[in-house]
Amino acid sequence: MKLHYYGHSCFLIEIESIKILFDPFITGNDLAKEKIDINTIEADYIFISHGHADHILDAVEIAKRTNAKVVSNWEVCAWLEKQGLTNVHPVNHGGRLSLDFGRVKFVNAVHSSSMPDGSYGGNPMGFVIETKEKNLYYSGDTALTYDMKLIGQSCKIDYCLLPIGDNFTMGIEDAIIASDFVQCNQIVGLHYDTFGYIVIDKEFAHKKCKKKHKTLSLIEIGEYIEL
Ligand code: NI
Ligand code: MN
Repeated sequence: MKLHYYGHSCFLIEIESIKILFDPFITGNDLAKEKIDINTIEADYIFISHGHADHILDAVEIAKRTNAKVVSNWEVCAWLEKQGLTNVHPVNHGGRLSLDFGRVKFVNAVHSSSMPDGSYGGNPMGFVIETKEKNLYYSGDTALTYDMKLIGQSCKIDYCLLPIGDNFTMGIEDAIIASDFVQCNQIVGLHYDTFGYIVIDKEFAHKKCKKKHKTLSLIEIGEYIEL
């Protein structure tokens, strides 16, 4: 099982031959657009946490080319259908979806959600992904919230993918508490360094994690880690 990083909040999980893409934002990311060619990304599924452009910018183009099934909240899916996508699957918080690689539960994220054209984007969400190999929590853009304890109580999380860029989301200190709430010591950082508001001190982040006995993975854009 591989976890590829395409910058910002965009990851691709590869489990056997199945490819699951999250929050595609590449062509608008100065750190990623030279390294990642969206025309070469293969995807069977695209999960979108909320409607903000830095999470959905390249979704329509990739979905049209790959015919990936796009999963997001009702409002995001309705907007994607207006952009011409047909293979969409709307969900909402508390629901669970069984797919060929495992199952995914849709959980709260404390953030906002509007579409790039300003229309209503429903509520932002995170994903709890259970597979026969590893279980992951992809929190989406969120503040620290006590609801995360429920995730740790109901599922053994192996890796938590958490924002660490501060300003719009949690910073590293709250991400460490979030990892405690979900009972997981392996943190993969996202939503940092992409633009000025969220540039972080990576050494500080690593130090904080080490002190709390957490492993922090900051994957280079275009690289992957084996889970
Ligand atoms: Ni956002
Ligand atoms: Mn964002």
